Amino acid sequence: MLFNEYKYFDYQFPEPQYLGAKYTLLPWINQFVPKGTKTAIDAFSGSQSVAYLFKQSGFKVISNDFLNFNNQIGKALIENNTIKLEKEDVRILFQPSKNKNNFNLIENVFTQVFFEKEEAQFLDNFRANISLLTNKLKQSLAFAIINRSITRKITMGHFGHTQALVYANDPERIKRNRSLVRPIKEIFEELVPKYNNSIFDNNQDNKSYNLNILELLPSIENIDLAYFDPPYCDSHADYQGFYHLLETYTEYWKEKEFINGIKRYEPQRFSGFDKKKDVISNFEKMFELSENIPNWLISYNNRSFPGIKEFENLISKYRNVKIETKTYQNGRGGKGSVAGSQEILFVCSPKKKYFVSFNSKNQLVDEKF
Ligand SMILES: C[S@@+](CC[C@H](N)C(=O)[O-])C[C@H]1O[C@@H](n2cnc3c(N)ncnc32)[C@H](O)[C@@H]1O
Repeated sequence: MLFNEYKYFDYQFPEPQYLGAKYTLLPWINQFVPKGTKTAIDAFSGSQSVAYLFKQSGFKVISNDFLNFNNQIGKALIENNTIKLEKEDVRILFQPSKNKNNFNLIENVFTQVFFEKEEAQFLDNFRANISLLTNKLKQSLAFAIINRSITRKITMGHFGHTQALVYANDPERIKRNRSLVRPIKEIFEELVPKYNNSIFDNNQDNKSYNLNILELLPSIENIDLAYFDPPYCDSHADYQGFYHLLETYTEYWKEKEFINGIKRYEPQRFSGFDKKKDVISNFEKMFELSENIPNWLISYNNRSFPGIKEFENLISKYRNVKIETKTYQNGRGGKGSVAGSQEILFVCSPKKKYFVSFNSKNQLVDEKF
């Protein structure tokens, strides 16, 4: 690699807390990125950690996740090259809102579920002020940082349980994780410089999308590499169950029902990759729609459905496949990363092309390139 290609690696991706994030696996994944890649798509981008690696590598990056709170991180850190949150922006976000009456969703739905009343009111007030930031990328940055602050504040960093307030009052838990009792405002202020410092310009026109991947693929072209990190079907695939609160806060849903003890929104968005009954046909669709993207890297786990062998057979219809594995020594890799479970990377390259031609005696010759 030329020295020039390392120049963006001084920037640091703000550490994510997201089930299945590949943050700790980036050096391993990076080894399998084909030389000569110029444009790459991170198709199921989640925390954006792989999209950020691609941006650091100098690629033109297309990033996509069907959940909008993830897309907001993509706008803030991948699409955005220069815009930061300044002191004045933070002042605007914290000021008492004149539009309080229209912003009480978090207080009404989540008080005593995840927050004490005062914190819920702070979040509603902050949410009301986001639209006062005139620049859309600043708004995305505000979403990215406040959502990360909420994740820090809530025990286990997801919202698929009802233990938040129990743990926030448990001295043993607090000793291990002070964030449980810190005001979200304080966590936000601490994170602003970390996010600001991670923003850089790689001189490419990068884009973040918020679509089902099957809708996005037909509209994009000239991509060298697709990275697919779908939910691991049958093993922690319900991202909307775990992260409903961040999506509700970002979308500020008015027309949804909030159900169960955790108050997740209903109806949910349709993924197509999280339920056994539709995952295989949607993988086939996705691979067909990716026919013009020569190289694919697919993250997978040995506990997912379909199993490794069946999935390899499925991919083999479209690409040559090599399987790379990394075994977790402990359970810290995120979703499905129980000790002893394996992170898998399918490294997929174009099948060799066959050209049929005729020799001077007009005999058919099968040439392999
Ligand atoms: C395993 S996670 C990706 C983790 C990511 N690579 C990272 O490092 O943070 C899978 C992601 O796929 C998203 N997703 C699920 N179904 C989708 C679909 N049909 N189209 C686009 N994104 C989808 C989920 O919201 C989730 O963020």
